[in-house]
Amino acid sequence: MADVRDLLGRQNYIASDEISTAIFLAERLGKPLLAEGPAGVGKTELAKAWAAAQGRELIRLQCYEGLDETKALYEWEYAKQLLYTQLLREKLSDLLGDAQSLREAADRLASQEDVFFSERFLLPRPLLRAIMSDKPVVLLIDEIDRADAEFEAFLLEVLSDFQVSVPELGTLKAKHVPTVILTSNNTRELSEALKRRCLYIHIDYPDLEAELRVVQLKVPGLAPKLAREAVALVQRLRTLDLKKHPSVSETLDWARALVELNARQLDKATLDTTLNVLLKYESDLQRARRLLQQGDRPDRPDRPDRPDRPRGGYRGSDWTNN
Ligand SMILES: Nc1ncnc2c1ncn2[C@@H]1O[C@H](COP(=O)(O)OP(=O)(O)OP(=O)(O)O)[C@@H](O)[C@H]1O
Ligand SMILES: [Mg+2]
Repeated sequence: MADVRDLLGRQNYIASDEISTAIFLAERLGKPLLAEGPAGVGKTELAKAWAAAQGRELIRLQCYEGLDETKALYEWEYAKQLLYTQLLREKLSDLLGDAQSLREAADRLASQEDVFFSERFLLPRPLLRAIMSDKPVVLLIDEIDRADAEFEAFLLEVLSDFQVSVPELGTLKAKHVPTVILTSNNTRELSEALKRRCLYIHIDYPDLEAELRVVQLKVPGLAPKLAREAVALVQRLRTLDLKKHPSVSETLDWARALVELNARQLDKATLDTTLNVLLKYESDLQRARRLLQQGDRPDRPDRPDRPDRPRGGYRGSDWTNN
């Protein structure tokens, strides 16, 4: 586990004990890992970092509504087949020229079918590429909840056998079982059957110290004190009842914005102009601004007046006084 954490750390990925244990077990038990959680908490990045840490190729299948086998598994390259038939025109007429009937010509052509339905004309899509790879790979099935339930059922077969049957070619079996990481934003319930085949981990927003480490790693230009204040503010915003909480990627964007703007502190002007990097709904922005103006802390109830606090606005250090 500690090794997994170190390996991920070297790829600039801050892994909790839970995450490193899940990866460790996925490798040991040879089971796919399903990582679920809100947007921007590092689910996709985990697969990328683990592939890089292992020196393995990352093969990514991005899921979306309407994704089907031809886009996920394989397609026949019709254009290439057509081009070959054009170029081999003469050879084909040699073969078919003296046929007595249409049926005989068709039979002769059929006897040559395997030329055109061979691996030469097979266009492997991510799942088949992962299965056929000569080296072990990491297969990322990203945002599986966006795909249709039928696709999920098809995926189950692939994930249990790691073999694929191509009618024209026969069964293609994995040379190496890939490490599979599936991610989901939980926009719909996944099937019991899929969950049963996978190890499961819920990745949530990191705590202050972990998020601060991510910021320090990825935005080293931000002064440590300011970084801590910024992350503390993000953590507090997440305690508010907002339409969309800021994600780690938005914290990073904000940290980069603060560096670009040469911000020295989180004063009112800085917050007024940059909060929209963190919050993407007008109602969320209004709510956050209202609380900031009141000099209130966003993790407390939204009160119209606080006699124990000076009026007249917000001071940056308020956010860091836990
Ligand atoms: N623990 C972490 N260590 C390092 N970087 C992280 C970590 N968590 C998040 N990040 C950073 O946050 C950003 C968003 O991560 P990522 O794209 O993996 O999120 P996600 O969970 O896949 O989001 P979505 O559900 O929207 O696809 C990336 O830039 C990533 O580098
Ligand atoms: Mg993602």
